[in-house]
Amino acid sequence: MQVSAVPPQLGLSPMDGVTDQAMRLITKKYGQPDLLTTEFVNVEGWHHARERLLADLQFDAREQPLIAQIYGVTPAYFAECTRDIIALGFSGVEINFGCPAKTVVHSGAGASMIKTPELAREIVGCVQKTVRELKPELPVSIKTRIGYEHNSADDWIPFLLTLHPARLTIHGRTLKQGYTGTADWETIGRMVQYRDQLSPSTLLFGNGDLHSRAQALQAIHDYGLDGALIGRAALGNPWVFTDHVPSLSERAQVAIEHSQLFADLYHTRHKYSFVPMRKHLAAYIANFPEAKSWRSQLMQAESPAQVETILQPLIK
Ligand SMILES: Cc1cc2nc3c(=O)[nH]c(=O)nc-3n(C[C@H](O)[C@H](O)[C@H](O)COP(=O)(O)O)c2cc1C
Repeated sequence: MQVSAVPPQLGLSPMDGVTDQAMRLITKKYGQPDLLTTEFVNVEGWHHARERLLADLQFDAREQPLIAQIYGVTPAYFAECTRDIIALGFSGVEINFGCPAKTVVHSGAGASMIKTPELAREIVGCVQKTVRELKPELPVSIKTRIGYEHNSADDWIPFLLTLHPARLTIHGRTLKQGYTGTADWETIGRMVQYRDQLSPSTLLFGNGDLHSRAQALQAIHDYGLDGALIGRAALGNPWVFTDHVPSLSERAQVAIEHSQLFADLYHTRHKYSFVPMRKHLAAYIANFPEAKSWRSQLMQAESPAQVETILQPLIK
């Protein structure tokens, strides 16, 4: 096992419908993870409706280093989208070979690529070539799973390592598992030997079921990784990247701040709705006494002002 020269890194895992700009800014402010990633963007959609999708890649300098994640099936569109990602000033481009959503998998994208390695190779090659021509220092990373129906990590991961991504993040579940069962960290750890043999410069990150900074650092240490991404546990909990345990009052205050930021960023958008913010609100007050009654009120909230009225009694 190689001894990594860089300190372990903790990042926010990309989540469609969750890691929008409002969540990323709140996460950065209260959690200071080493890196953030956008929600994934479909390269076919980008090709056909670039102007409309530009809003999905909106960010500001406080979010850096921010990685743009993309998925799809058309190598030329990956190249096209990568050119825009470079022009927009992201700190990296990440290819999603891990999404298990039916619509994505049926199109042949996301975790479906595990079954079409030659297409995966072509896509990675297109993105890397574009980066080499325009901004060679920009890291090209891949995020994937350990297999399709069964654990095939011993074939799929060495294959990806022969493509020399700057970082490879492995979520320790198969496509078939979706989000059920538990992440297989033994398998993730076993991949370090392939990295050392095939692509020593690739940073290897683990992902799946991490719920605290301490647990993530322990996993990185135990399995000899370079870093880890935390996803679901960051919902309503930007402090998950720190050792700080927030009080209920702090959680309520940040839920209000997050709501205001969400409205400020998105209220001018076509078909703006406050509804997507509600899942964050439920998470901010989860696991506290009487969370249920607060949650049912928050699930009706239509604006930051209403959230503030509901949560005011919790603020000390
Ligand atoms: C609602 C939701 C949306 C997700 N969207 C993405 C995505 O756009 N790109 C991606 O690579 N992974 C996506 N994921 C997977 C997560 O990044 C992560 O790999 C997975 O949730 C396991 O990590 P966790 O246990 O820390 O949540 C998503 C997960 C969830 C729950």
